[in-house]
Order: sequence, then structure tokens, then C-alpha cells
Amino acid sequence: MDGKSHTSFENVEIRPLAGACGAEILNIDLAGNLTPEVYEFCNRVLLEYGVIFFRDQDLTPQQLLNFAELWGDIHVHPHQPSLPGAPGVWELIKEPDERMAIGDNWHSDQMFTAEPALGTILYAKEAPPYGGDTMFSNMYMAYDALSAGMKAMLAGVKTLNKYPFERARNRALQQGFKADDIPTVEHPLFRRHPETGRTSLYFSYGGTTRGLAGMRDEESAPIRNYLTWHMGRPEFTCRFRWEVGSIAFWDNRCVNHRAVNDYHGFRRYMQRVTIKGDAVIAA
Ligand code: SIN
Repeated sequence: MDGKSHTSFENVEIRPLAGACGAEILNIDLAGNLTPEVYEFCNRVLLEYGVIFFRDQDLTPQQLLNFAELWGDIHVHPHQPSLPGAPGVWELIKEPDERMAIGDNWHSDQMFTAEPALGTILYAKEAPPYGGDTMFSNMYMAYDALSAGMKAMLAGVKTLNKYPFERARNRALQQGFKADDIPTVEHPLFRRHPETGRTSLYFSYGGTTRGLAGMRDEESAPIRNYLTWHMGRPEFTCRFRWEVGSIAFWDNRCVNHRAVNDYHGFRRYMQRVTIKGDAVIAA
């Protein structure tokens, strides 16, 4: 014991954000001692809603890491510098004079790696006065809503995924990537969640998911175009409005997300942590 109070559940409240996914967990202070019950409670809500949100948190980078580590090991980005003393916590900033925003297409984090992220935690330190929301899409629903014909045709199909170098060329170069040493990684298009056992669609926008294994580009393009539209259908989504102190924690194994880049002229400063995942299980 270090004298800090235990995180209390006395008045905790779960408030769903939309019909498809997302719930705010209210009246919980993540700066307190994080008991196993905090993990059990938050993980239960995460598995049910796919993405959980907290408001009015005041965390040091170490406290953010303490919370993330309840779920497992932290991914330390090979090229993004971590905050001092907090390996794995890095800054995601869009300055007023910048036009490009990281992550403004539907995707699941690190899908271009063999063992993609379990979850990602984003913590708002500065929020624009309007805009800059993040959207999430329930990929169980996206799978369930496919017709029996599409499910049968695409069962067993693998996606071809690559770091989106061309789009993020300057950033990638700064981070030490070179176009010719980026491997293509295959994943099942339909994946099984290791904890819930449910099947979801596992697919990112075209910068990452470049093709379908065993098909020519012109054959898979109509399917990829359809899935790109389908996975963002409004009825599968929720949208989160950031304030200073807000936290979003999403499960990359069943939820896609995208940043909304509609706040040019304002600064948005987030701290970000990614929890390591395992090899993807085919459904
Ligand atoms: C991301 O794709 O991780 C960024 C999401 C955001 O900034 O809203």
C-alpha cells in the first residue's frame, strides 16, 4: 500500500453512447490504486461495448501506463519516442497549421503486423473547441450483417496488409520506415475474438488492407470497396466528443476506429498507449 485510495466503485455508472457500441464509465478515478476488480469491471464493459470512455481523468504518463498494463504488455513503438520515464506512452499531436490527421480512415491498429494490438488507449490533454471526434464501428455487427452468400464466398479468405507508407510518406520516413522493407502480412478476413468467441469482420481501409490473398486486384477491388463502405455504416458506429481529461479505450479485436479531421486551425494533443496482442484467430 502506498497510501493512495483504492479506486472506488461506489457510484460507478455505465452509460451506453449509441445502439451499436461504446459506453462511458462514470464516477471512477483511474489515478487511484488499481485493484484486480478495476480490471475485471472495465474488461467486462469493454467486452460488452467494444470501446469504453472515461471523463475528467487527471493522470500522469505512469498512471496511464499502470491502467493499460492491467491488460498486458505495452507495445513500445520502434520509431515514435516515448514520454520520459513512461515507455510506450507517446504523443499524438495535430498542430493548428497541420492539415493531415493520423488515423482518419477506418482501421484496426497495427493490422500490418503479425500480432496486432489488443487495445489502444487515447487520453486527451488538449481538445479543439469543436470537431476532432473519434468514431468507432462494431465489427461483430459488420460481420453479422453480411448476407449468407457473402459469408460463404469470403469464408477462409485472407487479407493482405501493409504499413500505409505512401499515404504517410513523410512521417514514415521520419520514423525510419522505407517503402521497400515493409512486409505484407496476412490475416483472416473473419476473426474469432479470443475472449468472447464471437466472429467479427477484420478489415481496414485500403492504405492498410491492400488486397485479398489469391485474387487479382481487379477481382478483389469491388469486394474491398463494398466492405470499406459496409464497415462504416452509421448503424454500426458511435462517435465520441473529446474534452480535456477524456479517455477512450478500444478493443482492436472487434472494433474499428477513425479520427474525424474537421478542426483545422486548432491544436489537439493526445497521449496514446497500445497494448500488445496475439496472432489473429480465424473464425
Ligand atoms: C488513431 O487512429 O489511433 C487516432 C485516433 C484519433 O486521433 O482520434
